[in-house]
Amino acid sequence: MKAVAIISQKGGVGKTTIAAHLAVAAERADFTTALFDTDPQASAMKWAYLRKDVPPEAFAAQPPVLREQLAKIAQAGAELAIIDTAPNADVAGSYAAKAADLVLIPCKASYLDLDAIRASVEMAQSSGKPFFILLNDVTVGTTVGAEAAAAIKEAELPLAPIVLHHRMDYVTPLGGGQTALEATPEGKAAGEIVALWTWLAGQLELPKKTEMNAA
Ligand SMILES: Nc1ncnc2c1ncn2[C@@H]1O[C@H](COP(=O)(O)OP(=O)(O)O)[C@@H](O)[C@H]1O
Ligand SMILES: [Mg+2]
Repeated sequence: MKAVAIISQKGGVGKTTIAAHLAVAAERADFTTALFDTDPQASAMKWAYLRKDVPPEAFAAQPPVLREQLAKIAQAGAELAIIDTAPNADVAGSYAAKAADLVLIPCKASYLDLDAIRASVEMAQSSGKPFFILLNDVTVGTTVGAEAAAAIKEAELPLAPIVLHHRMDYVTPLGGGQTALEATPEGKAAGEIVALWTWLAGQLELPKKTEMNAA
């Protein structure tokens, strides 16, 4: 089983939104996926409960035993775990990063957000796991995304090659226990998630099981 931790010291950068979308993308690519939620706010758990019996299955996780929880679910047949985490959680975030095979750090494209990712980067670096900054919520038709990407490259930090833009298609379906992949499969948000998943699956060296299209 492979595990991806989504961490950020800053709240509201899209961790839960991205975790839910990636978990659904993985399921649709035919990987039995478990969504782990270490955030006491339990946003990912609440979203998963709205899905009733539709996968991914979600688990409330306690950071100090996350590794054991992952091992148990791997033994039960899970092929991928997506770990959603709480903001401002040094210890919890580093447990998640250490238990994962790859770490994603979502970041909005603003000076304040970029300035604040240093702590998340240090947390990921100290885990020794490969990590990537993922630009999220980037306003379409502006240069902020390109400017943020340039600043990240200038700082010699690894940047995911897919940018997620500000789109209501990421937001609206979550309230009904869905994602853009299900609510607006032909839309641009779904297309971005398929591209992100395809790249991520390559990074994790997962075998290709099905041809994934957004629609
Ligand atoms: N790409 C996006 N486009 C539009 N809104 C977004 C996007 N990503 C996140 N949001 C919104 O930003 C807010 C924070 O997202 P959330 O996933 O809860 O972040 P976190 O889990 O990091 O606190 C939510 O209101 C969410 O709907
Ligand atoms: Mg969250």
